[in-house]
Amino acid sequence: MNKINIGLIGFGTVGSGVVELLQKRKVFIKNRFDSEFVIKTICDLDIKKRDTRGLKNTQLTTKIDDVVNDKDIDVVVELIGGLSPAKDIVVNSLKSGKHVVTANKALISNYGKELFKIAQENKCHLYFESSVGAGIPIIKSITEGIVGNKFKAIYGIINGTCNFILSEMSEKNCSFEDALKEAQRLGYAESDPTLDINGMDSAHKLAILAQLTFGKFLKVKDIYTEGITQISHDDIEYAKSLNLTIKLLAIAKKTNNKIEARVHPTLISKNHPLASINSVYNAVYLDADPLGKILLSGEGAGKMAAASGVISDLINFASKGADRKLICNLYDENTKLSLGNIDDVETKFYIRFLAADKPGVLSKISGILGKQGISINSLTQKAHNKTAAVPVVMLTDYTTEKKLRTALNAIKKLPAIKGTPVAIRMEKLW
Ligand code: HSE
Repeated sequence: MNKINIGLIGFGTVGSGVVELLQKRKVFIKNRFDSEFVIKTICDLDIKKRDTRGLKNTQLTTKIDDVVNDKDIDVVVELIGGLSPAKDIVVNSLKSGKHVVTANKALISNYGKELFKIAQENKCHLYFESSVGAGIPIIKSITEGIVGNKFKAIYGIINGTCNFILSEMSEKNCSFEDALKEAQRLGYAESDPTLDINGMDSAHKLAILAQLTFGKFLKVKDIYTEGITQISHDDIEYAKSLNLTIKLLAIAKKTNNKIEARVHPTLISKNHPLASINSVYNAVYLDADPLGKILLSGEGAGKMAAASGVISDLINFASKGADRKLICNLYDENTKLSLGNIDDVETKFYIRFLAADKPGVLSKISGILGKQGISINSLTQKAHNKTAAVPVVMLTDYTTEKKLRTALNAIKKLPAIKGTPVAIRMEKLW
């Protein structure tokens, strides 16, 4: 029997899910993998307030050193998130010969290169399945299941909170604020949901996926990122009427020696498989050679979804052992690829603005777009009101970000335009 001592750091929502699942799967793990996981120590600053019933044989502590310096602990499970003290915990654990399982996307996206190197130097494993898409086996699929492929593009719905909010706004006709409250009540959103709704959570996860698929370590701050706070119910309704749907997509594409990496609300055809990924579900759609198009999907946030990924990492370790060779050299950067500039990205656009309903306004707008070489594919003006401003929605043909921004800045200055125009990129995914 392979007995593996675990030191768990962070006993919040995911940590308690991990303990619960390890207890539930105890017999299965024993029978199937001839292994037993012993939760030797749990460290949490609020350990006294946590529900620790059923953990009689586990040392409960608030001191990180009780885990990192314990020679009998084989695997450290880091579930506190953030960079500090998580980075020190992971570095010190690896340096003292412990394997590490983490769900920390901030840590892997910011310091992956350094941490993979330290892990390799110390002949230890660093597992991070739950850092992207919770329990969906995205990391394992890319690094093992389809590792012989070359990747051309990734399109990810990788924030459960945003996907839940956009789905609720669409299905229940509710406001952004009400949908966010519901996401928090259900435990999908982080306690501070800022990083979810401003797109940064997706940017962290995209940086990890870009490392694994393209071998390029991107700085999260260099990924063009827009969240969903500007999306109104009107946009969702217009999208529906155009047979489109709005998703917060994390996109990385390789073109020649450049990578495009961006996170933003995106209009996609209602008929594309990603359009049917709703609620807290995440999905990653990969374009790979020779396999073609691959879609991985499942619950991407929540206690047990994240716990599932952590348990998979632990069982992978138990079944393959410490001597298992790392399949790919994760810290080997592809220096030939550089990050493209968002100004040069070409997409079609949906633009919506409020305009005074009087003769000549649309010709002024189309004149500005024409000056930038932007062609209009369709135009909708729903209401007709002689006094108030009316919403006008246009779909453009392909244009660069730079040309579109230049045109919108000029349109915004027209006296007939009220408020700030909304622009949403459209992607053709096949
Ligand atoms: N808060 C994240 C989400 C889950 O909404 O997807 C953890 O990464």
